Amino acid sequence: MKKLLNWVDERFPLSALWKTHLAEYYAPKNFNFWYFFGALAMFVLVLQIVTGIFLTMNYKPDAAQAFASVEYIMRDVSGGWIIRYMHSTGASMFFAVVYLHMFRGLLYGSYRKPRELIWIFGMLIYLCLMAEAFLGYLLPWGQMSFWGAQVIINLFDAIPFIGPDLALWIRGDYVVSDVTLNRFFAFHVIAVPLVLLGLVMAHLMALHEVGSNNPDGIEIKKNLDPNTGKPIDGIPFHPYYIVKDIVGVVVFLMVFSVIMFFVPEMWGYFLEANNFIPANPLSTPSHIAPLWYFTPYYAMLRAVPSFFGSQFPGVVVMGLATMIFFLLPWLDRGKVKSIRYRGWIYKTALTLFVISFLVLAVLGTMPPSDLLTWIARILTIVYFAFFVLMPWYTKIDKTKPEPDRLT
Ligand code: HEM
Repeated sequence: MKKLLNWVDERFPLSALWKTHLAEYYAPKNFNFWYFFGALAMFVLVLQIVTGIFLTMNYKPDAAQAFASVEYIMRDVSGGWIIRYMHSTGASMFFAVVYLHMFRGLLYGSYRKPRELIWIFGMLIYLCLMAEAFLGYLLPWGQMSFWGAQVIINLFDAIPFIGPDLALWIRGDYVVSDVTLNRFFAFHVIAVPLVLLGLVMAHLMALHEVGSNNPDGIEIKKNLDPNTGKPIDGIPFHPYYIVKDIVGVVVFLMVFSVIMFFVPEMWGYFLEANNFIPANPLSTPSHIAPLWYFTPYYAMLRAVPSFFGSQFPGVVVMGLATMIFFLLPWLDRGKVKSIRYRGWIYKTALTLFVISFLVLAVLGTMPPSDLLTWIARILTIVYFAFFVLMPWYTKIDKTKPEPDRLT
């Protein structure tokens, strides 16, 4: 074995990679619950790719056959149902994991210098993930697939001047059709996943360049052991965090299995009832809502009044609501990174932000009414205030002194 390894090492930096990224990669020793979700996101990414490959073996990207091919997978293909439920449950769990992963960033200021690029790659991943989920949702060619795509593509139509041409270009037709299905398939199975994998690589390369933040928000690289030159508060990623992350994966798989085997539709939150009806361009469902992970933005879209009949202002607000996360590293002027040493103002702001995001998510699933629209408007303002006022309130917030060593 040693000879074989030497043979490889002389031709490929296998041992060197193992050392720099695992065995001699020093991570802070105080990682907590919130640090499971990066590894879990990687796990779900692999799960989606593998189950996706198997689905593709029996799925037909053809408007006349797509719906029936999914039913065929569910009923006739041996093991097909479990592959499909893994993929549909995986999609929602991917977002759950990524939202918790992002929230960790807000708790511990992980987006702050020197981790701005980790954050930016993360945001690009998030945008790709949303595109990937949207594209995939058209493929079963159910009522919600069809009308969901119709609603979202029509949003591009609201852009002044270029909108109508742009929407036509995306659809490839005057209505969502077989042409649209084929191109969505191409993007969903190969184009976007390739970009996603590349971005995840970049995300991790940036992370390993600067090293992980941690729940105390202090840099372990500032405190090196004079003898070894290694961080005193660091432990090798392998074996310590490999083992810890495996525990996370096992617990995650238990939750995943309970959902997949007992409530795969999650009462309409993971798979909508209307999507078990084949797409019908002549019959619009009375209530069209996206899946839960898009509903905060959908609620904002509906909350913004139209301008001379144009939905454009709502589209702009929705776009800004996602893009504004990119600016976080430059909006935060706090003296400390971690919530542990922040003052009451940041804690209150973050709490209000989370409440606004969650309540907007709920509102986005409900049929609109005057009262709900007004609530959504107020919460949209709270949502944006978190970012817009951040340079000011993080500066005046009274922080606690950071410790010299990890606690
Ligand atoms: C496919 C999706 C993603 C994967 C596979 C992924 C993977 C990872 C992994 C393995 C880590 C190190 C372990 C950890 O800190 O939990 C990490 C750290 C990080 N990720 Fe992600 N990530 C993804 C999406 C995102 C998104 C959407 C954001 C934010 C917009 C983000 C922001 C960060 C930040 C700021 C860190 C450093 C955290 C710290 O050191 O405290 N990631 N990511």
